[in-house]
Amino acid sequence: MVNVLYLDCCIRRELSRTRQVAEAFLNALEAQGRYAIDRLTLMDEPLQALSEGFLAQRERLLLSPDREHPRFRYAHQFQRAERVVIAAPFWDLSFPALLKLYIENICVDRITFGADEHGTFGLCSAERLLFITTRGGDMTDSPLEMGARYLEALCEFWGIPRFDVVAGNGLDLGLEPVENILARTTQEALSFARDF
Ligand SMILES: Cc1cc2nc3c(=O)[nH]c(=O)nc-3n(C[C@H](O)[C@H](O)[C@H](O)COP(=O)(O)O)c2cc1C
Repeated sequence: MVNVLYLDCCIRRELSRTRQVAEAFLNALEAQGRYAIDRLTLMDEPLQALSEGFLAQRERLLLSPDREHPRFRYAHQFQRAERVVIAAPFWDLSFPALLKLYIENICVDRITFGADEHGTFGLCSAERLLFITTRGGDMTDSPLEMGARYLEALCEFWGIPRFDVVAGNGLDLGLEPVENILARTTQEALSFARDF
């Protein structure tokens, strides 16, 4: 079985169009019977920002080679995953802060990345990461789109060689029925499910 970590950052939960696309993708994976999906709903996790005492604790812990503290569980889980799927809407030119909070918690030296005299190198096991998103406007090829581009850069940092994005655009523009956009976006997502 291929171990897939699914990160759900669809803040609107059942109302989320992004989640609708992501669930179709995950169902298609599950139907193949060769993917074990580990679901992490970020809205239900006690994620903390790296502020004051929480950062100081991390600095102390990183002085030792031991990375067994429970606060590193998210980083270990992410490091072990063989595939990663992230679902998050397009907010304020990128994605919700909750996903950034998660990222802040998994970027841990000697778990998800390492560093030597040449710079940093990734330590993650995943061969690929798929980002599923929907956007109110049409951000196709827009330089203002910072969510997918940031995640792509992070994949390089984490050592994940392949990054793909499936994006539904223009959901709030009223130029095309939302169902049509979602149907097209779902088809695109399903094309990635065949050989994930
Ligand atoms: C807080 C917030 C910020 C948003 N920021 C943007 C934005 O910067 N650009 C844009 O095109 N749409 C923006 N949108 C619209 C969403 O991208 C769009 O409605 C998306 O489909 C929401 O996904 P969901 O249905 O999965 O929640 C924003 C929506 C919210 C609630």
